[in-house]
Amino acid sequence: MRKGILTIAAVGLLTTGGLTACSDDSGSGSANSAKTPKIGVILPDSKSSVRWETADRRFLEEAFKAAGVQSDIQNAQNDKTAFQTIADQMITGGVTVLMIVNLDSGTGKAVLDKAKSQGVATIDYDRLTLGGSAQYYVSFDNETVGKLQGEGLSKCLTEKGAKNPVVAYLNGSPTDNNATLFKNGYDSVLKPKFDAKEYVKGPEDAVPAWDNAQAATIFEQQLTKANGKIDGVLAANDGLGNAAISILKKNKLNGKVPVTGQDASTEGLQNILAGDQCMTVYKAVREEAKAASDLAIALAKGEKKDTGQTVKDPEGNRDVPSVLLTPKAITKETVKDVIADGYVTKEEVCTAAYAKFCAEAGIS
Ligand code: BGC
Repeated sequence: MRKGILTIAAVGLLTTGGLTACSDDSGSGSANSAKTPKIGVILPDSKSSVRWETADRRFLEEAFKAAGVQSDIQNAQNDKTAFQTIADQMITGGVTVLMIVNLDSGTGKAVLDKAKSQGVATIDYDRLTLGGSAQYYVSFDNETVGKLQGEGLSKCLTEKGAKNPVVAYLNGSPTDNNATLFKNGYDSVLKPKFDAKEYVKGPEDAVPAWDNAQAATIFEQQLTKANGKIDGVLAANDGLGNAAISILKKNKLNGKVPVTGQDASTEGLQNILAGDQCMTVYKAVREEAKAASDLAIALAKGEKKDTGQTVKDPEGNRDVPSVLLTPKAITKETVKDVIADGYVTKEEVCTAAYAKFCAEAGIS
């Protein structure tokens, strides 16, 4: 199975490796080429998902270091004012490229437009800024992420022999374009089942800022509203999934009600091994960071790269040159692939409380 992940990684590499470089000889756009490359990155927070600090920071640092470029990676901690202040400081401090994970499209756009007006190149990292002006967008195929979640939940419900299951939704932040794409993906699988009366649509809520603590309160209300009858939970990431699981535990329903996730976090993988979570979606952030770093370095040198793909920004009515990598569904049987890929370690996942489950899942 390790081969499966490596194949995906190789596809990711191919996608990015296939970028063709051509130097910007237009004269006007080469302002950056004279400057020493310095790349600024603004991460969104450290609570909506552990990935930003444990994976993205680490793999971006790794990619910049390998390329020998200077960088400044900061985290806005879900504070939009801080986000703008950090951007201003980075621009004043002389970054040649600014890479952002926006907190919402409005504030993201303001930052991107300001950078542009100061001659700083920009990249949307992971989240597309609607109506924005970033030169590139680097992410995963986010509708496929959602599709994998819908398919995973459906498979777990079948395995549990659920009859006309009631499915609740815990969607991601309403201000994150990815949350819309994830939902499009899982709706494409689950809506036909609701329409065919095979499944019953239960309560649905979007979780503001992907706030995990709020998600637990929201899920508790959903369970009450449904009189305790929720048979499956489509949770948009591992943090929201864990919030639902904590409430299911309180009601002795954990393990009986399949819950989805995303990000292959240590906690998510442990929940899967313990049988409390049905699946997660692994996104090889190392590849995402490498693709973004390659583009940032090219921009810093005043080069243009052809990514061979664009994504439509429906708000700005613009085709944004993009790199979209391939996500992978992970279940109990394949948790070991995430470890083999170096995303999390066996020591992190297989702590004393999970040692037995690790052994059962063939993690040695
Ligand atoms: C990312 C997910 C993450 C979520 C919350 C999304 O934009 O694609 O990986 O779980 O934000 O941070």
